[in-house]
Amino acid sequence: MPKPRVYCSHELFEEARKILEITCDVEYWTQAERPPREEVLRRVKDKEGLVCLLTEKVDEGLLRAAPKLRIAANVAVGFDNIDVAACTKRGVVATNTPGVLDETTADFAWTLLMAVARRLGEGEQLARSGNWKGWNLDQLCGADIWGKTLGIVGFGRIGRAVARRALGFNMKVIYTDAVRAPEDAEKQVNATFQDMNTLLAEADFISLHVPLLAETQGLFDAPKFFRMKRTAFLINTSRGPVVDEAALVAALESKKIAGAALDVYENEPFIHPGLKRPNVVLAPHLASASLETRTKMAVMAANNVVSLFQGQMPPNMVNPSVLKKS
Ligand code: GLV
Repeated sequence: MPKPRVYCSHELFEEARKILEITCDVEYWTQAERPPREEVLRRVKDKEGLVCLLTEKVDEGLLRAAPKLRIAANVAVGFDNIDVAACTKRGVVATNTPGVLDETTADFAWTLLMAVARRLGEGEQLARSGNWKGWNLDQLCGADIWGKTLGIVGFGRIGRAVARRALGFNMKVIYTDAVRAPEDAEKQVNATFQDMNTLLAEADFISLHVPLLAETQGLFDAPKFFRMKRTAFLINTSRGPVVDEAALVAALESKKIAGAALDVYENEPFIHPGLKRPNVVLAPHLASASLETRTKMAVMAANNVVSLFQGQMPPNMVNPSVLKKS
């Protein structure tokens, strides 16, 4: 029996490659930059499996180009790059990598929060510039973090991990979500449910942890910024389009909010020039980027592919109805 053919739009880590290659005949994109769309379309033509990153759009066009495709395994927890309905219609399994990146992503949300509050970006630039004249009383004074109010938007696994870290900073934690969490989940991290408007009015730091869906696209728009405290900061490690970037720039320009720390952008890798200001910390979509976690994500994607080709249910299906029907 020939092995099923799989295209990986990135080389993956050795641990993941080993898993995949036992069962599958694998072709990798090995160059440093992301593959052009035409290259992906050409490569998937004869493949039964695809391991892709969030930079690849798995849409009707790709599915049409890959008539033999049985699985698209995303190496990411967010799967807004995958047209799940189109996959389901064509009987293609779609999988993601939930769970393994929660703590790492929460660490990074805190990295951004602390960097923007304490003006680390500006301080780092000054320290490297050769222009630092020494300690001064009013030099780069930022905002305190401890004892403040943290507002979490989206109280899923990552939102909760971010909230848990606030316990060590003696913060008040409030959250909002489409559905209120069970009481024990709230108690574990000492978080209180609030409606969005109360959260906007009370939080000193607002951290976004919602998936990108039709309902969350542009969720943070001009009226939301208007309701925030002038001293508050926005932190986004979720997906760029959850924030209306033009409205954020306007809010920063008019000092409606104190600053922002962003890992994700509306049109990556493009960054709105209006965001390149001292009170905004910018990171290039790094929240899950620890070597340990990225390796686990790649292994998880490899296991999803392998289980399907071994006749099992892939553990992280986002459209399980595909296999239940058949
Ligand atoms: C990264 O952004 C992910 O969704 O895993």
